[in-house]
Amino acid sequence: MSVYDLTGRKALVTGGARGLGAGMAEALARAGAAVVIGDIQEEAGKATADSLRESGATAAFVSLDVTEDASWESAVSQTIDELGGLDIVVNNAGVEISGLVADLDPADVRRMLEVNVLGTALGVKHAFRAMRPDGPAGNGGAVVNISSVAATIPFPGIAGYSATKSAVDRLTRVAALESGKLGYGVRVNCVYPGLVPTEMGAKLAADMETLGLWPSAEAAVGDVIALTPLGRLGEVADMADAVVFLASDGARFITGAGLPVDGGMGM
Ligand SMILES: NC(=O)c1ccc[n+]([C@@H]2O[C@H](COP(=O)([O-])OP(=O)(O)OC[C@H]3O[C@@H](n4cnc5c(N)ncnc54)[C@H](O)[C@@H]3O)[C@@H](O)[C@H]2O)c1
Repeated sequence: MSVYDLTGRKALVTGGARGLGAGMAEALARAGAAVVIGDIQEEAGKATADSLRESGATAAFVSLDVTEDASWESAVSQTIDELGGLDIVVNNAGVEISGLVADLDPADVRRMLEVNVLGTALGVKHAFRAMRPDGPAGNGGAVVNISSVAATIPFPGIAGYSATKSAVDRLTRVAALESGKLGYGVRVNCVYPGLVPTEMGAKLAADMETLGLWPSAEAAVGDVIALTPLGRLGEVADMADAVVFLASDGARFITGAGLPVDGGMGM
C-alpha cells in the first residue's frame, strides 16, 4: 500500500462546504479516508457530503462554528460517533475581509481574528484532546492548518488577514512542539496556499479595484501571476493534494512545518 493511501483514516475538514475545503474533503476521500465536513453553511455542506457519498466515499456533514468551543466539542464527538474514530483534522475554515490599514474597521479585524486564529486554535485543541492517547479516538494523527501566502509576503489591502494567517503559522509551530513533547502522537503542519479563484479568492481580487490599489481585478490577478514563477493561479486540487500529503504517512517525520503551495510566489 502506498504511504499516501488514507484507507481506514477518519478526517474532519472545517469550512468544507465549498471552495478549497470541499476540494480537500474530496481529495482525502479519493485517497481512501472517510470524511466529515464541518461548516456553518448547512445546505451547501450537506450537498458536498452527498456528492462525496455518491462517488462512493463515506462522508457526512456536521454543523460547526469554529469560533465556538462548545460547537467543536459536539462536532468532534459526532464525527467520532459517525466514523468510529478521528485521525485527521484540517483547519481550513477562514474569512478574508480586505481593507486599507488607514481605513481599518475593528469589527472586520475582530471577525478575522475569531474565525482564522481562534477557530484554528480551537480546532487544534479539540483535535489534540480527541486524538492523543487518552482521547476518545486515541490513535494520534495529523492536523493540517490552512495559512496563506499572505503570511509569507506582504500584499496590499489585506493587512488584517495577513496578520491572522501569520498567527496560524506560529500557532502551528507551538502546537507541533507541545504535541511532540507531551507524546500526543499528532503531527501539526500548515500550508500557505497562493491565490485560488474560489469565492474568497475572486472577491479578494475584486476588492483590489474597489480599494484603488489596481485598475481592475484582472490587473491585480495579472500581477499575482507575474509574481508567480510557475506562471499561473493556484487551483483547488493543488491545495487539496498538499493537504493529503501532509495528512498521510508520506509526511510521517514532518511536523511544525509550513508548506508553500503557491507556484513559488512566496519564495
Ligand atoms: N482562495 C484563496 O485564494 C486562498 C488563499 C490562501 C489561503 N486561503 C485560505 O483557505 C481557506 C479556504 O478558503 P476558500 O477560498 O475556500 O474560502 P471560501 O470563502 O470559498 O470558503 C470558506 C468556507 O469556510 C466556511 N466558514 C467560514 N466561517 C466559518 C466558521 N465560523 N465555522 C465554520 N466554517 C466557516 C464558509 O462557510 C465556507 O464554506 C481559508 O482559510 C482561506 O483563508 C484561501
